[in-house]
Amino acid sequence: MVYTAAEDRYEKMKYSRCGNSGLLLPAISLGLWHNFGGVDTVENGRAMLRRAFDLGITHFDLANNYGPPAGSAENMFGEIMNTDFAPYRDEMIISTKAGYYMWPGPYGEWGSKKYLTASIDQSLKRMGLDYVDIFYSHRPDPNTPLEETMGALDSIVKQGKALYAGISSYSAEQTEEAVKIMNKLGTPILIHQPNYSMLNRWIEDGLQDVLQDNGVGSIAFCPLAQGLLTKKYLEGVPEDSRAAKPTGALGEEQVTDEVLAQVKELNAIAAERGQSLAQMSLAWVLRNGRVTSALIGASKVSQIEENAAALNNLEFTDGELEKIEQILGK
Ligand SMILES: NC(=O)c1ccc[n+]([C@@H]2O[C@H](COP(=O)([O-])OP(=O)(O)OC[C@H]3O[C@@H](n4cnc5c(N)ncnc54)[C@H](OP(=O)(O)O)[C@@H]3O)[C@@H](O)[C@H]2O)c1
Repeated sequence: MVYTAAEDRYEKMKYSRCGNSGLLLPAISLGLWHNFGGVDTVENGRAMLRRAFDLGITHFDLANNYGPPAGSAENMFGEIMNTDFAPYRDEMIISTKAGYYMWPGPYGEWGSKKYLTASIDQSLKRMGLDYVDIFYSHRPDPNTPLEETMGALDSIVKQGKALYAGISSYSAEQTEEAVKIMNKLGTPILIHQPNYSMLNRWIEDGLQDVLQDNGVGSIAFCPLAQGLLTKKYLEGVPEDSRAAKPTGALGEEQVTDEVLAQVKELNAIAAERGQSLAQMSLAWVLRNGRVTSALIGASKVSQIEENAAALNNLEFTDGELEKIEQILGK
């Protein structure tokens, strides 16, 4: 069936400037790491992408290895782009990455120019796109000179295969170095993609200052700690949850009593604020304007709807923030 996007799709979403660039990103972006692979159904993937776009989520994040199997999320996305979203390409920000294991041999992972160049071509083919909006180095490579990895990103942008360059999971020091190299090459780094949530705050220790000082934006991945920062695990591990699935990256052993005790208290604060814990967790990531976008995952349309409604209450009182600090410090 032909898809016609909702006319009111830009009315509720908030868009923020990504660092010093000209690009605006939605407060909530959707990632395709889980639930869009060969093990999943295209009907559910299509329904989630349509609903997200109708809610003003213009940014979709992929990587070469998303699936499983690796590559299949890009394939499914490409299929849905072709059938549903072709008329909307210029309204979408599509990103992909290379860095993790993708194919056998010495050229199928990490940060060499050989790997990144081959990988972007493969990704474009799988998605049926002429270009992506953002191409990332997915992780720092301790054995490849940073100049080579950054040079590859620069050359991919200059060839028109990506409009902007990004880095993911680089430390504050590595980011500072990467920024210098890319500025010299004339392709400034647009964005950093780190893990960031109430349960993982490493970026507050230096990286955020580096990003701010250099006008680089950021998009927080796993803002719900893969679902831990929702109420779903409070009464046990639901059968259809990521922790219960063999293909999920969240192990049942990560659903500990200690985490659940914190989640229970956080859930009570969210209720007092008149929102769900998922919504409060997203509002918290966006609370001080230092993060450009919260990059969620979803297995159901209803989760996207709930998460997008986080925008109804993004403000925190000092008292709420203090209470949250106390809970997280426990
Ligand atoms: N750069 C990197 O190295 C890197 C690494 C990881 C992720 N990422 C990116 O970040 C994206 C998001 O990661 P993520 O999926 O781990 O993010 P997340 O938002 O922390 O977790 C998403 C999961 O939480 C559950 N969930 C979401 N909304 C919910 C709600 N309202 N109520 C209850 N449960 C809810 C769903 O799991 P259930 O299956 O349990 O329903 C969903 O799949 C990825 O798709 C990818 O694009 C990047």
